[in-house]
Amino acid sequence: MKRKAVSLILALTMVAATAVGCGNSTTTTTTDDAAEATDEATTEETGAEDAAEATADAVSNADLADKKVGVCIYQFSDNFMTLFRTELQNYLVSLGFAESNITIVDGANDQATQSGQIDNFITQGVDVLIINPVNSSSAATITDKVVAADIPLVYINREPDESEEARWEENGWNVTYVGCDASQSGTFQGELIMDLGLETVDKNGNGKVDYIMVEGDPENIDAQLRTEYSVKALTDAGWEVNCLSDQVGNWAQDQAQSIVANALGQYGDDVEVVFCNNDAMALGALQAIQAAGRTVGEDIYLVGVDALSEALENVLAGTMTGTVFNDHFSQSHSAADAAVNYLTGAGNEHYIGCDYVKVTQDNAQEILDMVQ
Ligand code: GAL
Repeated sequence: MKRKAVSLILALTMVAATAVGCGNSTTTTTTDDAAEATDEATTEETGAEDAAEATADAVSNADLADKKVGVCIYQFSDNFMTLFRTELQNYLVSLGFAESNITIVDGANDQATQSGQIDNFITQGVDVLIINPVNSSSAATITDKVVAADIPLVYINREPDESEEARWEENGWNVTYVGCDASQSGTFQGELIMDLGLETVDKNGNGKVDYIMVEGDPENIDAQLRTEYSVKALTDAGWEVNCLSDQVGNWAQDQAQSIVANALGQYGDDVEVVFCNNDAMALGALQAIQAAGRTVGEDIYLVGVDALSEALENVLAGTMTGTVFNDHFSQSHSAADAAVNYLTGAGNEHYIGCDYVKVTQDNAQEILDMVQ
């Protein structure tokens, strides 16, 4: 299947991206084939659409009000996952689940805590589980115990690896993953910079894009692929790049603020672009940029991912160059639809994708109207 091939390629590129850092950022680590396959993946009809259609037929057959849903979120304090879980809860209720039968728990970014929560859900006999794992590498253990308890499982946001997804298919288990292809969001970040033109971006005139990278959780494939593909978009277009600093900000605004403040202190006016793996960190970067007396859009450029309201307001004001909409509506709805499909026996494909949207000043208001 094409999607499996894409997943395999992503798994292979992940190996290359694991050792991410300034050292390998100037080299292209993937093949043209991989890039083509990824492009195809973004235009391919998504499993989400199929799932939604199937759900429309199936919902009427299910007595959803009696069904118990357990939802594990890796960390409640994560801005994006807060939007996701709020929409997930609302959408589940709109489908007919009773609010009192939906339990959403906070893993507090600790896998042991989350594993205990999963055990509790199994003991309580929930009808379906939706899990945003703390560590994707724990997926096999999680899957084994949930499948042994005969509970259908929908993973969200943090994609388990290829070998894990292959097990679901080989064994015909009721397990799926719902999420977007993170390489697409990275490519869009690179394009946001490329659309400005090298002459505009290359403030110090050394013929290169001198950048800082601020990464999310290093175990997370979204962080790995955004880091890789944002820069790859530039190098694929023949632009030279120079990585000044590449550090882990764990998706957090405060950590990004101090990383970028230090990097600006060290590299000064040579910093031309700040890539952040998400908007929370871009907002922290913006605080550091402003404190250093720099001006986004004039002497430095800044991009994030997620399309948080505050980031969109900054894009509109010109204080962020752009962001990428991480569609929590589509992802949460697809996750809930997939849960319903398991409950009604309709079943699901083992991968349900969605598309990111590039956000500039031109469409930021439209996205803001949608997310507010
Ligand atoms: C990403 C999102 C980040 C963070 C992360 C958590 O998709 O862009 O902001 O929420 O998921 O896994």
